[in-house]
This record gives sequence, C-alpha cells and structure tokens, in this order.
Amino acid sequence: ERANRGAFSGRSAFIFAAIGSAVGLGNIWRFPAAAYEGGGGAFMIPYLVALLTAGIPLLFVDYAIGHRWRGSAPLAWRRLKRWTEFIGWWQVLICVIIGAYYALIIAWSLNYMVFSVGQKWGDDAEGYFFGQFTHSLMGADAGISFDYVGPVLVTILLVWVAVIITLALGVESGIAKTSMIFIPLLVVMFVILVVRALFLPGAMTGLNALFQPNWAALADPAVWIAAYGQIFFSLSVAFGIMLTYSSYLKKKTDLTGSGLVVGFANSSFEILAGIGVFSALGFMAQAQGVQVQDVVTDGIGLAFIAFPTIISQAPGGALIGVLFFGSLVLAGFTSLVSIIEVIVSAVQDKFGLSRVPGTLVVLLPMAIGSTLLFPTTMGLALLDTLDNFVNSYGIVGAALVSTIALGYIVRGLPTLRDHLNFKGTFRLGIGWETCVKVIAPLVLGVTMVLSAVQLLTADKPYSEYPAFFVNVFGWGMAIALVVIAIVLSLAPWPAGSNKDRPD
Ligand code: PHE
Ligand code: NA
Repeated sequence: ERANRGAFSGRSAFIFAAIGSAVGLGNIWRFPAAAYEGGGGAFMIPYLVALLTAGIPLLFVDYAIGHRWRGSAPLAWRRLKRWTEFIGWWQVLICVIIGAYYALIIAWSLNYMVFSVGQKWGDDAEGYFFGQFTHSLMGADAGISFDYVGPVLVTILLVWVAVIITLALGVESGIAKTSMIFIPLLVVMFVILVVRALFLPGAMTGLNALFQPNWAALADPAVWIAAYGQIFFSLSVAFGIMLTYSSYLKKKTDLTGSGLVVGFANSSFEILAGIGVFSALGFMAQAQGVQVQDVVTDGIGLAFIAFPTIISQAPGGALIGVLFFGSLVLAGFTSLVSIIEVIVSAVQDKFGLSRVPGTLVVLLPMAIGSTLLFPTTMGLALLDTLDNFVNSYGIVGAALVSTIALGYIVRGLPTLRDHLNFKGTFRLGIGWETCVKVIAPLVLGVTMVLSAVQLLTADKPYSEYPAFFVNVFGWGMAIALVVIAIVLSLAPWPAGSNKDRPD
C-alpha cells in the first residue's frame, strides 16, 4: 500500500514541499497590507503571538495526524476516529473550491508577466483590468453575463497542464522536485525585486509607513483576529495539506523541528514581501503626489492595479513587472499543487488507485470545470465570492470543528503529543495542548461569528453582487461542502483501509 501512495525521499524534500505550499499569494499580497492596517511595526506582536499560540501548534496537529495515521485527509481522520472522517472530506472539498479559483489568479499573473514587457495597460491599469482584460461586470450585473476572455483561456489551460504533469510525476519527482527548483528561484527573483524597489524614489517613505508602530492598534480585538487569520491562511493549516504531505514522510522523522523550519521560512518571506511591496507603494505615492495611506491595497487590487501602475511609472518597469508577476506564478503554483494533492491523495486512497489514474480522475474534471467557468466575464465575481465564503466558513469552520473534536470529543491530543514527542527536537507538553484546545477554538469561533454577523446584518449582499449569486456561490457552496462531506463519509472503503496503523 505504501509504495503505491508514494513517499518523500527525506526530510528536506518534505520541508521544501511544505514551504512551497506555505509561501504563496498570502505572503506577497495579503501580509503587507494586513501588517500595515494592524498597527505597522506594532503588528509584529499579535502576529508572533498568533504564530506561536495557534499557527505552529495547529501545524503540529496536522503533521501528527497525517504521520501517525498515514493517510489522505479522510482516511487519516477515519482511522483516528470513525465519525471524524467527514472533517477530512470537508478539507478535500475546500481544496476543490480553492484550487479552482487559485488557478485563475496564476493564469492572470502569467498574462501580466507577458503584458509587463510592453505595459499593455497603458496609463489606465484599473480600466484595463476591469475592462479589456477581464470584462468584469461588477456589482449588480455580475453573474448575468457569461462570455469567454481569450488570453486567460490560454494561460489557465497552461496552468492545468503543468499541474497535471507535476502531480502525475508523483510525490518525490513531481511535488518535491518542483518546490526544490521553484522555491530557490522564487527567493532569488524576489530578492532582486526587493533590492530594485528599495532604490526607487519614495521607497523609504513607504517603509516608514509600514514599520512605524501604532501601539494603539493592539487594543483593537479586530487586529488580533486579523493576525490569527493571516497566520492560519499563511501556514496552510487545517486545509488537509500538511496532513497529506506528512503522510508521505518516513516513520522516524522529527516533525516538530521540521515545522519550525517551515514556519520560520514562511514568516521570513512575509517580512521580505512587506519590504518589497511597501517600497513600491512608497514610490507610487510619491510619483502621484499623494500619501502612502492613499495607495495601500491588497489582493487583486495590489497585484493587478497598483503594481501595473508602478511598472508604468518606474524606470526599468518591465523588469519589475516580470519579477513581480513571475514571483506570483512561482509562489502560487507550488501552493496550487499542494491544494490539488489533497484531492488526488484522497481519491487514490478511496478507490485504491495508483498515481497516474488518481491524478487524471481528479484533474480532468477539475481542469475542465475550472477552464469552463473562470476565464469568463463572470470569473472575477465568482473568484471573489468563493474566496470570501470558503475562507470565512469553510476553512475557519473545519479548523474549529477539528480542534473541538480532538480536544473535547475524541480527546486525541495526548496520543498526538506522544507521537510528536517520539522523534521531535523538543518536548510538547501542556502548553501545546492548551493552545490547541482553548486558544485556537476561541479565536476561530469568535472569527466565524463576527464574519457571519457582519454579512447577515449588512443591507447589501456580499460585494453588492445579486442576491441569488451570493446565495448560490457563497452560502449555498459553504453549506453544500459540509453536507456533501457527511454523505461521502458514509460510503464504504476498500478492504484493509480500516487498519488503525498500517505499515
Ligand atoms: N499558504 C498560502 C499563502 O500564504 C495559501 C494557501 C492557501 C496555500 C491554501 C495552500 C492552500 O499564500
Ligand atoms: Na504563506
């Protein structure tokens, strides 16, 4: 069975793959603005607290489950306790949704990498993105129109072909090797980009804006919640990813030491991205004669509107563009591969399939579905809605349910702790258990309630999209994931899957 599932050749292959998953769009386009809005330099305190009290402790939980029960998310949870299998399927379905739209962002980045050379957007990056490029009809018109957007159709297909090849090559030759090439390349490209940005006029104003501490922000609970949110997303915990990857590790492996390396690498890349992004924003503010606060954005606005503007205005902008969008592609691709592997691994275990058939069974429908739905005039609204709801309810919900199940119902934490301590660099004790049992569920629960209250009390549907659109792709999708997960957990497994601890 094990030979069939695949394995990492060693600890460094695993660490590279795990860093490949962790370092993604969240580091580049989410962290800088989150830090700026959460108190600048002072944000380091809630950020580190969140990292140490929830991020790393939950990362260890993922590692321990996958490694102790040696299976994909549903199989490992099933072996842990029969009824928790649905949590694993929930994670698989979350990955189906995220994977489908993550591919679109990488596709756009590929388009923009090419566009950077001739600065195709002219002097109106915003108009180009929403108009000629995505043809998005935002707000009330979204979802009504459905037409294909040529250049994106090409790049999204390229992305899926690359994912299929990578995953078909398997755990070591596909997943690990890709990260071992892409991650060092990403670091080199990104460092060049940061150094270039540091020498732009206005860069120092940008850095001052980012690092200047606003201590008063620490009194705002929203800032703490944002810090935990950033950490959960950024470390890719509770998605089933780290669980799946650790199931491919040799039995006697130091899990806790590996986790610290991954956590440290991920946070370092976030700080580096903060420096690069805010240097560039400082330049943009100066070039436009406005304050840095007026140009701060994150996500799609940062990547596809602010950066193209910077590229047009900066000397040597084409190089900045190729480096920036190239970095998004490399960082995003290794994360996408990790997301899809959760699904492939589960399907392989469930149907007893070997690598190539397992990959094709998952990826042909997914690639076709994603290619049919996303490179369209509806793509942006669809991405935006799925992303918001799968994050606020899917990921947070699955993490909440797993910590409660482990801490209070199955009471599995002592077993996991012993497993981690068996070969770990350091001993986990009551402190770790408290983080997983008390701090994590508390923060996750509050986060979920707050976002639900905010959405339910707003007088317009999310992003002012048509109500039916939000009901189907937002609430409907989030609820359907749980229902389908429960149904899937009732179906039988191939003989032998129930063994508690297969060798
Ligand atoms: N951790 C990744 C990031 O920071 C995001 C991610 C989310 C990766 C989900 C895989 C799965 O960008
Ligand atoms: Na990350």
